[in-house]
Amino acid sequence: MTDTQRPAVVIDCDPGHDDALAILLAARHLDVRAVTAVHGNAPLERTHANARRVLELGGRTDIPVAAGCDRPLVREAHFAPDVHGKSGLDGPDLPEPTMPLMDAHAVDVLIELSRSVPDLEVFAVGPLTNVAMAIRRDPGFASRVKRFRIMGGSLTFGNVTPAAEFNIWADPDAAHIVFGAGTPITMVGLNVTMQSLATPDRRDQLRATGRRTAIAFADMLDFYAIGEGQYSGLPGGALHDPMAVATLIDPTIVTTAPLNVQVETARGSVAYGMTLCDGRGLDAAFRPRGVYTQGGATTPNADVATAVDDARFWDLLFEAIASYA
Ligand code: RIB
Ligand code: CA
Repeated sequence: MTDTQRPAVVIDCDPGHDDALAILLAARHLDVRAVTAVHGNAPLERTHANARRVLELGGRTDIPVAAGCDRPLVREAHFAPDVHGKSGLDGPDLPEPTMPLMDAHAVDVLIELSRSVPDLEVFAVGPLTNVAMAIRRDPGFASRVKRFRIMGGSLTFGNVTPAAEFNIWADPDAAHIVFGAGTPITMVGLNVTMQSLATPDRRDQLRATGRRTAIAFADMLDFYAIGEGQYSGLPGGALHDPMAVATLIDPTIVTTAPLNVQVETARGSVAYGMTLCDGRGLDAAFRPRGVYTQGGATTPNADVATAVDDARFWDLLFEAIASYA
């Protein structure tokens, strides 16, 4: 894509190993106007530092970073040091950032960009607290944003619980606001992201480039493989967040279906934090098979990922990471 053709985006994230991949994949192909950090994989002071560490690693300190909400709207905060380490980005020997943090709060940056950038798209690959706050703070925000591309939820199973995926579970009330805002949504959930892993062969492929950034990511993904693998039993960490970015760069990589998605916000429910997707009109392979109306039809509010071409996704991601020095 040429500069004039590059869609303008902002990445709201909680770096986080897979968030780090998402940031540099987006920076390779898209016009990234800002990175906004939120609590999630690690406390906010770590996620905004890690966002800057990754941008410095990739030589993209031209992209500003803002800090957002340090806790969920209602529930208590939960972090994931068991997966991402105490720093939120354990593994590589990356220095603490020297680039400054924006003075503005991330919520104000999201709102300001929605006012100044036509057709802005928002990648939301952490808990949705910042995005929900922007929706509540400025009633026009949701209608100005062209699309929310969310890594979160699942058409099938969760990770933190059998029902709930971490980004949604970490702030279900925020997710409820976002899925009810009326903005077009692409939802990339665990049912597809767990099909794309940073396997040992892929980490070796990164190392074989001999390039500093790719080697640092191989070190990150070695740590992440242990962090996620202790729970999943899989040979590599899942490439969750960059897959949401891939949906804009090459829309043919991920297949979606328009479904109604509701978020369970009831504390005490076994499904607390679940994205309940109305997949009754899908066949066993999650392909649309017509409208199912028993019990009443629902209105789609999201394009939910149902399949992914893992090989083509990895090729896109590898090329991007290997393109950095
Ligand atoms: O459940 C996976 C999601 O939670 C990813 O965004 C990962 O970075 C964590 O935030
Ligand atoms: Ca994330």
